[in-house]
Amino acid sequence: MRVLTVLAILFAAPAFAEVGKIEINPPAQGSVTRAEGLQAFDRIYEVASHPRCSNCHVGASNRPMWSGPSYGKTRPHGMLVNAGESRIGAEHILCSTCHVNVEATERGNNVPHAAPRVAADWQLPPVEFEWFGKTSVEVCNQMRDPERNGDRTYLDIASHLDHDVILHWAWEPGGGREPAPYSLQEHVNDVLAWGVAGMPCESD
Ligand code: HEC
Ligand code: HEC
Repeated sequence: MRVLTVLAILFAAPAFAEVGKIEINPPAQGSVTRAEGLQAFDRIYEVASHPRCSNCHVGASNRPMWSGPSYGKTRPHGMLVNAGESRIGAEHILCSTCHVNVEATERGNNVPHAAPRVAADWQLPPVEFEWFGKTSVEVCNQMRDPERNGDRTYLDIASHLDHDVILHWAWEPGGGREPAPYSLQEHVNDVLAWGVAGMPCESD
């Protein structure tokens, strides 16, 4: 009886990808050509420019965006939300007022138009990680530049993608939102392939 109860609870819980379940297996050095690396970056850009990622990855306007089919018209976040230089809204109203931080097991985001909730502090990334409206070449050059990517190697980027619960949300956003393309594991594999190819950009 107890086993059944536990199973019922397990299956009733929303299915979220668990942090730490992604494999970081880079291909052997020298095994990925420049052309294959560029193809991997094309897919990385499809993810980075997707609304589930780019709505937060905005620049010095400090204004998160509402864009993508589920939002209809592209526009800055409603209610005059402004993240300020703090990037967490400290100068105005904290992001966490509405985007409350919840335990991973309670991350139900099934109600359309409710503020997304994740098991991490909801905030904008530093301005240098600006992707919204940027071209593939611009994002490529930013992502490989240690001065502008938080001093990360491609291996650091891959493991960041696994640990960051915001990213896990982007592939299972709920509430009628379109998930980011591919899967988190495929995205990590593309970052690793691009890295082993020497992080090429079309502009090289
Ligand atoms: C809720 C806002 C938010 C969303 C949505 C979001 N990010 Fe981020 N992202 C951040 C924050 C905050 C940081 C800074 C964290 C750090 O540097 O430790 C960051 C940093 C990063 C970095 C490291 C810096 C860099 O440019 O290399 C990568 C890679 C990244 N995000 C990828 C993504 C991808 C891919 C998606 C969509 C699948 C996404 N993010 C969606 C907030 C967000
Ligand atoms: C007053 C409540 C409120 C505050 C404060 C707030 N948000 Fe939101 N946010 C919402 C709601 C509600 C939605 C979803 C709207 C919808 O789906 O129509 C949302 C959606 C978003 C989205 C789009 C996510 C997606 O689906 O791609 C981003 C990005 C975002 N907020 C960032 C922020 C940031 C960053 C802050 C702090 C500077 C913040 N929000 C503060 C209520 C709020």
